[in-house]
Amino acid sequence: MRTILGIESSCDETPPTPRVHREKILSSVVSSQVAVHHRYGGVVPELASRKHIEAVVPVVEEALETAGVSRKEIDAVAVTQGPGLVGSLLVGFSFGRAFAYALGIPWVGVSHLHGHVNSVFLEADPPAFPFVALLVSGGHTAIYHVLSHTHMELMGQTRDDAAGEAYDKVAKMLDLGYPGGVVIDRLAAEGTPGVVKFPRPFLDKSQFDFSFSGLKSAVRRYIEIHPEDKPFKIPDIVTEFQEAVVEVLCYKLIRAAEEKKCRHIALVGGVAANSRLRSKLRRDAAGKGLSVHIPSVDLCGDNAAMIAVVGYHDLAAGKVGRWDDDVFSRMPITNSLKNL
Ligand code: KG4
Ligand code: ZN
Repeated sequence: MRTILGIESSCDETPPTPRVHREKILSSVVSSQVAVHHRYGGVVPELASRKHIEAVVPVVEEALETAGVSRKEIDAVAVTQGPGLVGSLLVGFSFGRAFAYALGIPWVGVSHLHGHVNSVFLEADPPAFPFVALLVSGGHTAIYHVLSHTHMELMGQTRDDAAGEAYDKVAKMLDLGYPGGVVIDRLAAEGTPGVVKFPRPFLDKSQFDFSFSGLKSAVRRYIEIHPEDKPFKIPDIVTEFQEAVVEVLCYKLIRAAEEKKCRHIALVGGVAANSRLRSKLRRDAAGKGLSVHIPSVDLCGDNAAMIAVVGYHDLAAGKVGRWDDDVFSRMPITNSLKNL
């Protein structure tokens, strides 16, 4: 069985992971850049790529050492090709290809979105195909009908902000720091639902598209109209904001499963770490007889293990990277994530 070095550098973290056997993680090292970007209230792309350059060699060395794997024992490299920040992607992509070239082993470029959806295969009892997945992160909010590890049909997506982006922007408005999702998750546990009221952005209830920018503006307007509520009602404000996001996400994911007659649903991406979203989805899905698959919190955010899983399946299917392959910042406009 193959030992695959996974490398993911699409945004602000450098996490390479050597992996052996199907879906078994040997080690996972993440070099976080939160401290670097914190003072700017968001990711600064140029800083992110410079930090990746500094981190990539030591992080790979640490990952191999922790795994007890020598370079010669690695059979292949799987590296994120896109979508993401081009400068950041280029660091991991160039390193991964050079590493594979030097060792004379195959490598393959992987979609970051395929990676997130495949993070459920790193857990025991993964879903059976076909299933419906909600990918909810800082860059994406989309529902897919997942037919295989690398064939996913898009059912709907956000028309403006991703849910994680809305969390981060609301946190910034309230001076809660970056990244905002975790802080809001924590603070919302202290708030009282219903004290403040925000709309639920369902759009059309029968469709699977999302929109979060109106909700974000509703929070901004509320803060402007009620300056006296800041900081006193911050927990109530973020509780209501979170309830609005979570309600729409859970509703649409369950509707999508019903539409496709799937018994298995998956929740993946950085926002899948949210405690309220995890618990509400489990409860709502149980009422509908659906089986819910959510990765452990450390596999929700960007990680290289998920990239290695996709690489494993791509390589098994005979796909290998070509030397003229390049990174890409956005997904091509297509309803199917079949090929990169
Ligand atoms: O998947 P990810 O690590 O990177 C992207 O591909 O975007 O997701 C990052 C996003 C950020 O917007 C962050 O605020 C959000 O995930 N996030 C959370 C939580 N943890 C991370 N949002 C809500 N609740 C959380 N606990
Ligand atoms: Zn991601």
